[in-house]
Amino acid sequence: MADRSPDEREWVSPPESFVERANVTAADRDALREAGWPECWKRPADLLDWDRRFDAVLDEGDENDADDANDADDERTTRWFPGGRLNASYNCVDRHVEEGRGEETAVTWEGKLGETRTYSYRELAEEVNAFAAALRELGVEEDDVVTLYLPMIPELPVAMLACARIGAPHSVVFAGFSADALATRLEGADSQYLVTCDGYYRRGAALDLKRRADNACVSADHEVEQVVVNRLDDDRSVGDHYAYADLVAANEGAEVEPVSRETDDLLFFIYTSGTTGEPTLVRHTTGGYLTHVAWTSHAVLDLGPDDTHWCSADVGWITGHSYAVYGPLALGANTVLYEGTSDSPETDRVWEIIERNGVDVFYTAPTSIRAFMKWGEQHPESHDLSSLRLLGTVGEPIDATAWHWYRDHVGDGECPIVDTWWQTETGGMVLSTLPGADRMRPGAVGKSLPGIETAVVDETGHRVEEGESGQLVVTRPWPGMARSLCEGTDWGARRTRRIDGEWQYATGDNAVRDEEGYLHLLGRADDVLKVSDRRLSTTEIESAIVGVDGVAEAAVVVGDDEEALADPEIHAFVSPESNVAGDDALRERVGAAVEEAIGRVASPDVVTFAPSLPKTRSGKVVRRYLAAIANGEDLGDTSALRNPEVVGELESLLDR
Ligand code: WTA
Repeated sequence: MADRSPDEREWVSPPESFVERANVTAADRDALREAGWPECWKRPADLLDWDRRFDAVLDEGDENDADDANDADDERTTRWFPGGRLNASYNCVDRHVEEGRGEETAVTWEGKLGETRTYSYRELAEEVNAFAAALRELGVEEDDVVTLYLPMIPELPVAMLACARIGAPHSVVFAGFSADALATRLEGADSQYLVTCDGYYRRGAALDLKRRADNACVSADHEVEQVVVNRLDDDRSVGDHYAYADLVAANEGAEVEPVSRETDDLLFFIYTSGTTGEPTLVRHTTGGYLTHVAWTSHAVLDLGPDDTHWCSADVGWITGHSYAVYGPLALGANTVLYEGTSDSPETDRVWEIIERNGVDVFYTAPTSIRAFMKWGEQHPESHDLSSLRLLGTVGEPIDATAWHWYRDHVGDGECPIVDTWWQTETGGMVLSTLPGADRMRPGAVGKSLPGIETAVVDETGHRVEEGESGQLVVTRPWPGMARSLCEGTDWGARRTRRIDGEWQYATGDNAVRDEEGYLHLLGRADDVLKVSDRRLSTTEIESAIVGVDGVAEAAVVVGDDEEALADPEIHAFVSPESNVAGDDALRERVGAAVEEAIGRVASPDVVTFAPSLPKTRSGKVVRRYLAAIANGEDLGDTSALRNPEVVGELESLLDR
């Protein structure tokens, strides 16, 4: 069995058939770069309908507000599209109906138990209007925050759009979170309204969401009015609340005038996913955010009104907000929402949904792709996936092995892949290739999108040489930036600063720029290993390990023996494919692969085979728990994990 060692340096061109009909061509890309920053954001803004046209693309604030243009925090406020007014719900719903596309599908819902439901744009408009009228009746006013604690059911995007219609920012809380987490978020957003449901199905069991919501409301420091969607039909909801269905029925036929919002009025609140520490509250604006996600859905996901798009992320995370709800709906596409998990009832569920719905564009996370690989290529190959014309990934680096597997077995060896790098704070995509214009390089994300500028810098904020690793910073404001990043520079809380007069937002991720200007992401800055004075990235070592046949996933951490004058221990946790034994032969091949790809210094000292790796609820491996296990330290609170039980399994494997 020869190890695959796909060449990370190879280039792949998109097929001619894709290039010919792409939304953004190489000529468009060049014209945008030519127009320069910030003027090139005019074309993206024209994808939206504005109630009042903006006076300028950008107002960077008055320099006099700065104490000192160099290296200092300053108070300058950045305003995208000042003077502009618009409504997000109008842009995502009404205008498509007005343009005669009311009967086209807006939302396709695939339920956990195999049920399906679709909403045409007209039906979506009716329910959004009815629920917006109901929220008003409950007393929700412009700028009141409405918390949405719902699983992946169509009422979630309906409620988001109803809030947007009346200018009430929403705050979606992932349904898998506990009552305590919900209470903290209700308080953090000072939200007096909560939309939840009776319960939902997860891995075969019906979960009582209403009880969690009630517990959260009891412990919140203020009164909370509840609306409850009936999902389980078992009448378990008791207590004081309004039934969603009753409110919508009572307001049937209502027409609620969309509230005209200023560009930087808030559209929503969201907490970061907590990959690297405490979740923090982020606020996004109406005009800047919507421009950014509509544009990147058009330019990177290549979506239009004829497309069926499936972004598999939960709407509780930013990816679901931007690319399952706002982006595709702003463009009039059909967005697929799936309530269940990829392995239920069978491990081919995802391919079955793509085939049955004729999905054109599929956007998912590398963690899912690695699971698909583990289950085997026979599953995608037994389905007709020929409707797919573009694949996307987000959330973590995708190694070349997974990239090729995705393209070969899901994309029929043809589909372009966009590897998109961005964050909750950035609102939308920042780094990616343009699928109809750029070549792809497996293992690299690509360049900054037109209109976005980034650099790789050292600790002092100065640029490092090509080929050297450093922290990725964004060096100019962009429309989807979180509101706090617009409010002056603050190196502590906002991670923004001025270095020699240049504005910088520090992403917290490390990267290296290759000779073509493509960026290779090396993981979070706090996941970098220092061995023999070399800075090694966990991503590089992990990519080499998952290139070994039979390995599904890997995470690498380092021992923290500060006394050791010699190099610290590199500890690899490796999860083999389901039919592969974690034995000495595999261990040897793991070591050899790392040695060949990076060098002997990087070769793991310890390889622990693990059935699975500890992950956040959004699917990212949490290395800090693995580091604690490797170092025999106390793990503390593991409630942020989706699979806390694996931590116990790993501890017992290591006999600690
Ligand atoms: C990581 C998710 C490598 C990165 C949209 C970032 C990625 C964090 C990629 C943000 C990618 C996201 N390649 N790493 N294509 N996309 N990341 O806020 O570490 O949940 O800082 O937003 O995910 O995670 P968040």
